[in-house]
Amino acid sequence: MSVLKGGSLLLGLLLLGQSLDAAPSFSVDYKNDCFRKDGQTFRYISGSIHYSRIPRVYWKDRLLKMYMAGLNAIQIYIPWNYHEPSAGLYNFSGDRDLEHFLKLAQDIGLLVILRPGPYICAEWDMGGLPAWLLNKKDIVLRSSDPDYIAAVDKWMGKLLPMMKPYLYQNGGPIISVQVENEYGSYFACDYNYMRHLTRLFRSHLGDEVVLFTTDGAGLNYLKCGSIQGLYATVDFGPHSNITAAFAAQRHAEPHGPLVNSEFYTGWLDHWGSPHAVVSSAEVAKSLSQILAMGANVNLYMFIGGTNFGYWNGANSPYAAQPTSYDYDAPLTEAGDLTEKFFAIREVIKMYRDIPKGPVPPTTPKFAYGAVPMKKLQTVADALEKLSFSGSVKSVYPQTFMELNQAFGYVFYRMTLPFNCSSPTPLSSPMNGVHDRAYVSVDGVFAGILERNEVITVNVTGKAGSQVDILVENMGRINYGRDINDFKGLVSNLTLGGRTITGWTMYSLNIDEVVGQDLLEENPPTQADSPQPGVLSPPTFYKGSFIIPDGIPDLPQDTYVTMPSWRKALNGQIWINGFNLGRYWPTRGPQVTLFVPAHILSTAAPNNVTVLELEGAPCSSPEACRVEFTTTPVLNGATLSDSQQHRRMFIKEDLL
Ligand SMILES: *[C@@H]1O[C@H](CO)[C@@H](O)[C@H](O)[C@H]1NC(C)=O
Ligand SMILES: *[C@@H]1O[C@H](CO)[C@@H](O)[C@H](O)[C@H]1NC(C)=O
Ligand SMILES: *[C@@H]1O[C@H](CO)[C@@H](O)[C@H](O)[C@H]1NC(C)=O
Ligand SMILES: *[C@@H]1O[C@H](CO)[C@@H](O)[C@H](O)[C@H]1NC(C)=O
Ligand SMILES: *[C@@H]1O[C@H](CO)[C@@H](O)[C@H](O)[C@H]1NC(C)=O
Ligand SMILES: *[C@@H]1O[C@H](CO)[C@@H](O)[C@H](O)[C@H]1NC(C)=O
Repeated sequence: MSVLKGGSLLLGLLLLGQSLDAAPSFSVDYKNDCFRKDGQTFRYISGSIHYSRIPRVYWKDRLLKMYMAGLNAIQIYIPWNYHEPSAGLYNFSGDRDLEHFLKLAQDIGLLVILRPGPYICAEWDMGGLPAWLLNKKDIVLRSSDPDYIAAVDKWMGKLLPMMKPYLYQNGGPIISVQVENEYGSYFACDYNYMRHLTRLFRSHLGDEVVLFTTDGAGLNYLKCGSIQGLYATVDFGPHSNITAAFAAQRHAEPHGPLVNSEFYTGWLDHWGSPHAVVSSAEVAKSLSQILAMGANVNLYMFIGGTNFGYWNGANSPYAAQPTSYDYDAPLTEAGDLTEKFFAIREVIKMYRDIPKGPVPPTTPKFAYGAVPMKKLQTVADALEKLSFSGSVKSVYPQTFMELNQAFGYVFYRMTLPFNCSSPTPLSSPMNGVHDRAYVSVDGVFAGILERNEVITVNVTGKAGSQVDILVENMGRINYGRDINDFKGLVSNLTLGGRTITGWTMYSLNIDEVVGQDLLEENPPTQADSPQPGVLSPPTFYKGSFIIPDGIPDLPQDTYVTMPSWRKALNGQIWINGFNLGRYWPTRGPQVTLFVPAHILSTAAPNNVTVLELEGAPCSSPEACRVEFTTTPVLNGATLSDSQQHRRMFIKEDLL
């Protein structure tokens, strides 16, 4: 039988749910303007979920909730940099077990629309491209650049054969596969690149599978985004004119199904700009109109999830996205049911039968309360532990890439070459601090440099004073022409107008040191007094808490916040070595961080480690604490409420 053409036992098992009279098939029906699945007309109502933003233990719960909303498909991005962290080293295990995720989706009864990139945007670091591609300094990403193509070929040669058994016609859940992502919004407009990808995808996946593109719903986007052999779809949100948007798709595809590949249920956030909110009523109304036209739709996002660790991206002009990717989606960052979930379910009910039975409930949250924090070493004090490979010396500063580090923080050190007895400007005239630098002189905090925002701080000190600069990668640009986003000190600094020479640099492996609990205690000093306006050099803090006895079903999910660290509040937080991401309530809008229960332990005290970059008032034990609460706060006050200069990004900018 032709259905077993793949030949493996796995395929046979996957096929049990299918009719055995005919091979499963999925195709574009150009004559009847629809998709055709197993010979029947078919329309999908899908939702986006990013497995890389949800702990594996919660995949099933989130997928089940999506199924119970009435969706018949999900759409997923595959972030290349998540699976190939260094060239040739692949990771598909644990939270990165893509095949396990696909099997869960299929078991639950959801089809899958696969978006393997290579570029995905997604508000994910560098749009999913691995930072190591920047080892070739002048690489033209997303083009026919031979080094870029060689890396893509190798990655797709690994990934696509792995995906092939999961294609619908091979008995799996994948009905269609997107090539690239919104390529029409990228400056390169390199048709040879898109043609190459088309051939590459076909060679690995076969001739049958539906390959498609997605672009903004405008002729200007479709011009460079759509290409012969790939079915062109569009994306647009509830504020768009649906008729005009689908007319744009019809211009590229006169026949075939109408498809909105990204119908926006909410929108993304940036540090310093107000939390984006889109009303349920607007989403429901527009969704209903789309479905009434017989169109296929994917709701982006159905659940946003969390940018744990360092995975958030940024937009240009530089604005980093926060840790939460809640997106104001129908399921919250923590998978909670919302009013929007039920509004969408009511709309879907009008167009297709939705599954009977109860929707899985919102997972309970627990307030573990306040946890006192103790001061540990400063980054400068712990340098030897934090830098496994030791120091690197060079005349001019090197970038993260040159130092072979992708994420987190790099420590730069130099000495004042002359007396700076009066305040002397330490500057980055080329705006080359990527992205934020915490400067101290002889251990005393001197100021902060920030990309596009602050290019000069004044320093004072004698010749020979030690200047320490901790430079933070806040997430690589994921959209537009600036995705070649080098980190660290990417151009020279000057002191009093003279180029600084003689750098010592340390790449830092903070995550491993925190995970192994190697940092030592260091009692507070005079310098830690909470004097208004006085900051301190980047310092670690630690505390621990026990999950209470006698309460059923603990541990449960929670949210962490730093309510009483008044002045500075900006840094990174780990629990039991798991990197929860960046907190920055003073810039907003995100105030609390999601803490999934599976990282908590009932067998031992839970260890909270904080790297506070600007200084916390920890001379008073009352103030020095973090707190676990049951209520998320994602819409706190933002800097832009008072400082108008931070630019808002509108949809047209980011299509
Ligand atoms: C692979 O990824 C998983 C999930 O993030 C992680 O736990 C594991 O340590 C990684 N494996 C390697 C070899 O890095
Ligand atoms: C929507 O677009 C269509 C086609 O371009 C146009 O005829 C119509 O007037 C537009 N509707 C609104 C409300 O702008
Ligand atoms: C810096 O100033 C000190 C006095 O404060 C002086 O002894 C020293 O020679 C000066 N060094 C330079 C390089 O000018
Ligand atoms: C640096 O100091 C000079 C002289 O005191 C002052 O005019 C200038 O505003 C200061 N610059 C900054 C960035 O603080
Ligand atoms: C720093 O300046 C030197 C001398 O002008 C130059 O050769 C070098 O390329 C510059 N380095 C960076 C990172 O811009
Ligand atoms: C927290 O740290 C303590 C002391 O290092 C250790 O004994 C304990 O196992 C850690 N807790 C967890 C959950 O790993």
